[in-house]
Amino acid sequence: MINKDLSIEFCGVKTENPFFLASAPIASNYQMIAKALETGWGGVVFKTVGLFVADEVSPRFDHVKKEGTPFLGFKNLEQISEYPLEKNLEEMNRIKKSFPDKVLIASIMAEEDRDWTKLAKLVTQAGADIIECNFSCPQMTSDKMGADVGQNPDLVKSYTAAVKQGSDLPILAKMTPNLGSMIPPALAAMGGGATGLAAINTIKSITRIDFDNHIPLPIVNGKSAVSGYSGKAVKPIALRFIHELASYPDLKKVPISGIGGIENWQDALEFILLGSSNLQVCTAVMQYGYRIIEDMISGLSHYMEKKGFSKLDQLVGLALDNVVSADKLDRDFIIYPQISKEKCIGCGRCYISCEDGGHQAIIWSKTRRPTVIEDKCVGCHLCSQVCPAEAIGYGEVEFKEGRERKSIII
Ligand SMILES: Cc1cc2nc3c(=O)[nH]c(=O)nc-3n(C[C@H](O)[C@H](O)[C@H](O)COP(=O)(O)O)c2cc1C
Repeated sequence: MINKDLSIEFCGVKTENPFFLASAPIASNYQMIAKALETGWGGVVFKTVGLFVADEVSPRFDHVKKEGTPFLGFKNLEQISEYPLEKNLEEMNRIKKSFPDKVLIASIMAEEDRDWTKLAKLVTQAGADIIECNFSCPQMTSDKMGADVGQNPDLVKSYTAAVKQGSDLPILAKMTPNLGSMIPPALAAMGGGATGLAAINTIKSITRIDFDNHIPLPIVNGKSAVSGYSGKAVKPIALRFIHELASYPDLKKVPISGIGGIENWQDALEFILLGSSNLQVCTAVMQYGYRIIEDMISGLSHYMEKKGFSKLDQLVGLALDNVVSADKLDRDFIIYPQISKEKCIGCGRCYISCEDGGHQAIIWSKTRRPTVIEDKCVGCHLCSQVCPAEAIGYGEVEFKEGRERKSIII
């Protein structure tokens, strides 16, 4: 097994690898966190603490699955820590003493500037290395906390400044994805004195509805609520926000912690390539346990070895310049699909999708094999997306009439 040096600096703090537990039930107490750190996680964001103890509902979770797969998406109704602040601070302190080389991020939330300052002081005394401000939980019971704050740049700025008053530690602002653009609150956080940004928290959702009683899930004594969605299904949305933050000119050098749907090293690498130098994981640990870290470390190490990277920071942001606005995409050519006779299993899914969702450009033969009609094909590649046998790839490239021929990257 190859174990590369995955160390990286994040918000001025050195960490042995970029993989952290996200603030959530997976990081609620000493025992859990100690087990995770011993398994190889580089650091942890402790479950959000406040000056009040959350009064939680039961049940509090739901999920979306498809055809027997594990969770595609996961919904939760949780707020902040269910334990008293004193206990949480004590456990943070024990963690830092037992694992001085691991990174401890304290996640905090309050309703008033003075409480943010107070919490910042307390978690600093408890031994935290970084403070994460939770501006993003979408199911708080007050609009002065959580995602409502994250949507309000003025509050983001004043709460961040209040945290800065209480501590010299680096400050991470954890952003809500429940808005069109993350830039205004991100700039407000930086204006208030944040060191870095963490994104995303969960996305407001309704997952499933019970058909007998017509109540969305989970049912809490006959009712439910809109609340946060996480897991694999949110990864594309999270990546979009990471790209937005990392490519914004005034935020270019700002450290970013990427969160949302990370289950394995490939997911993690996507966040890194779009500019994240730190990664947080929640739902995948809730489903598979702390040991997924082993795959993440070895997978990323193998990738770096194979591609000739010696340091992780060489990878940060490498994909950023390759995302352009739709008006800048090259529209000069069509790439026709090429169907491999050897790999095709004759299932007909390419034919059905092309007939009913494409351009009726595939002929289905009596021997159950597809053939592309180039005159009708527009090169959309719906056929290759639906092929379960990976039998459809890229074939001939045709330049549109009057367009210049050139070599293209595919
Ligand atoms: C059950 C549950 C509880 C959570 N609690 C918190 C919390 O206390 N503070 C916080 O900042 N985020 C909280 N989150 C959000 C996660 O930290 C994370 O941002 C989100 O789940 C997306 O990551 P994932 O797809 O890896 O789960 C919670 C998420 C879940 C599923």
